[in-house]
Amino acid sequence: MAMAEKDKELIRGSWESLGKNKIPHGVVMFNRMFELEPSLRNLFNFDTTYVEDYLSNAALLDHITKVMLVLDAAVKNLDNLLALKDYLVKLGRKHATAGVSIKAFGVVGESLLYMLQCSLGEAYSAPLQQAWLNLYTIVEAVMSQGWPTDSEHKAD
Ligand code: HEM
Repeated sequence: MAMAEKDKELIRGSWESLGKNKIPHGVVMFNRMFELEPSLRNLFNFDTTYVEDYLSNAALLDHITKVMLVLDAAVKNLDNLLALKDYLVKLGRKHATAGVSIKAFGVVGESLLYMLQCSLGEAYSAPLQQAWLNLYTIVEAVMSQGWPTDSEHKAD
């Protein structure tokens, strides 16, 4: 769960301004996600009928805020991602229980990169993209440990 120093620097630098405006950036990310995969809205157990109208969908905005806070925690703990391990595994478990497939998380990652590209403009470089991909891959991999394994399913 260790990140390269260069990756950490790139991530911290890019998050400095983004992290101050989490909700608008989170909205760009979620817009992209539903554009790429409209069926994902069915995975939320709250009403996403008016998903285009984010500001009037308190539940969705609340989830967007939560996602951004998890990313913020990851950025703040780049030197010790292990500290987030138990939390992330439990978070994965909550999503599994809510009926979310881990496959959906790939689209979230893609949308995160899209949001970064939109927000950072020329500052969005190949090494920066790779650094974020490395971080997101760790978050996703740890969360995925919260999904029950096949043997657990059989035991049910
Ligand atoms: C398409 C992908 C996703 C879907 C469909 C989804 C859906 C949900 C749902 C339905 C809940 C409510 C669970 C419950 O019943 O308590 C939830 C909670 C939450 N989600 Fe997601 N989620 C997604 C991705 C993510 C990602 C990528 C993150 C963070 C990296 C995240 C962070 C959270 C947090 C922090 C909560 C609150 C958990 C708690 O109550 O402690 N979600 N999500």
